[in-house]
Amino acid sequence: MLPIELRLERPADYRAVEELTRDAFWNHHVPGCDEHYLAHILRDSPDFVPELDYVAVHDGQVVGNIMYTRAKIVLDRGGGREVLCFGPLAVAPAFQGQGVGGRLVEHTKALARELGYAAILILGDPDYYSRFGFVPAERYGIGTSWGVYIISLQAFELQPDALADCAGYFEESSSFRMEAEDAVAFDAGFPPKEKLSGLPSQEKFQWIVSQTKPRRPAGQ
Ligand SMILES: CC(C)(COP(=O)(O)OP(=O)(O)OC[C@H]1O[C@@H](n2cnc3c(N)ncnc32)[C@H](O)[C@@H]1OP(=O)(O)O)[C@@H](O)C(=O)NCCC(=O)NCCS
Repeated sequence: MLPIELRLERPADYRAVEELTRDAFWNHHVPGCDEHYLAHILRDSPDFVPELDYVAVHDGQVVGNIMYTRAKIVLDRGGGREVLCFGPLAVAPAFQGQGVGGRLVEHTKALARELGYAAILILGDPDYYSRFGFVPAERYGIGTSWGVYIISLQAFELQPDALADCAGYFEESSSFRMEAEDAVAFDAGFPPKEKLSGLPSQEKFQWIVSQTKPRRPAGQ
């Protein structure tokens, strides 16, 4: 395991975090990426949770980051339940596979529990997040706003039975809705990088997002 210090992100880290986020996500899900722009704007979101904005530092270098926002489940029975969502989660490519991502997730999960948050819902690769105890949100009757269960939507209860009786749909922070042209303009401030398509990670991502089934809200 790589020796690292986990600490809160500071303004002096912002650019390094955006660079490593870009490097980690570039061509990973789609040709290019916009997660570095997302990291850039999320910090100003009213839903941002600064107490959970952690960086991993190795030998004075920021090598990983995780960011959380408040989100909600819109309940079938009416009302909403506040939950957390994390992302982007990124580790600089040269430091991947050495436990950095895992420690960022576990550390902030424990902290989120201490802070009293109910649960975490994320959209991500189930093969990775199942190792941290995440389960398909379908298990709790939670789907998407467009009426499907999707395997990439995964949930983790921070408090016992926090998601019992929470059938409904997940609604992430509106700050995730970014303008594509703003992301492109932001990316222009970084060194040019080649966009590639047809990569195995992109095919896996397409497969994951295609795995849906209809969800009928409880009581309908
Ligand atoms: C995903 C990511 C954060 C993991 O960080 P990391 O420091 O490499 O992770 P760890 O070292 O804690 O864990 C590595 C293990 O997870 C596995 N893993 C990593 N990404 C995975 C994925 N998408 N699916 C399945 N397993 C994955 C590795 O194969 C490795 O397995 P092993 O322990 O059996 O060898 C990092 O690889 C990354 O930044 N990737 C690109 C961006 C990304 O996909 N972010 C998450 C968005 S959903």
